[in-house]
Amino acid sequence: MAVCSRVFWACLALALALLLSFTEARDHLVGGKADAWKVPSSEAESLNKWAEKNRFQIGDYLVWKYDSKKDSVLQVTREAYLSCNTTGPIEAHKEGETKLKLDKSGPYYFISGYQPNCEKGEKIIVVVMADRSTRARAGSPALSPALAPASELEAPAVAPTSGASSGLKAGFILVFGVVVSGVIVM
Ligand SMILES: *[C@@H]1O[C@H](CO)[C@@H](O)[C@H](O)[C@H]1NC(C)=O
Repeated sequence: MAVCSRVFWACLALALALLLSFTEARDHLVGGKADAWKVPSSEAESLNKWAEKNRFQIGDYLVWKYDSKKDSVLQVTREAYLSCNTTGPIEAHKEGETKLKLDKSGPYYFISGYQPNCEKGEKIIVVVMADRSTRARAGSPALSPALAPASELEAPAVAPTSGASSGLKAGFILVFGVVVSGVIVM
């Protein structure tokens, strides 16, 4: 009986520690609400303002909801983003509900498939931070421009150190969990 509960608590502590370190991947509804993929009403409402306030990490998803009869989402190059060139995008999405995985670090450029809307500001740059485990191990070199793709962009202000501290936090939680389980087993 006692053995059983000790093992149970140890497992529970481990499971919680693991859960905490894996639940960081998130869905980001672009613009923060369902009808946000549209021409912004003001500069303050712009999609890049929203992007600046968010942290995007590898493994996270971007989600768009829009009327597929009127709009679409194009993933494009930096040049096409700047000129609102809707011809020959990297990827075109028109389903009305689009979900994309951010599988590498660096900038992603999206524009409306309806060119006049892009011209009026229906466009967004999302910068995905470098892998947090790499940052946690590498320490300060993560601050170098080579590993901080955000630096080439005007808009998103990403705090480069927060990735490292988040990685360290996850590691600490894991170690703490193991120690706690160890103590319980003894
Ligand atoms: C738009 O992009 C396409 C494909 O990359 C290219 O062929 C075309 O010349 C571009 N148009 C303009 C106006 O830059």
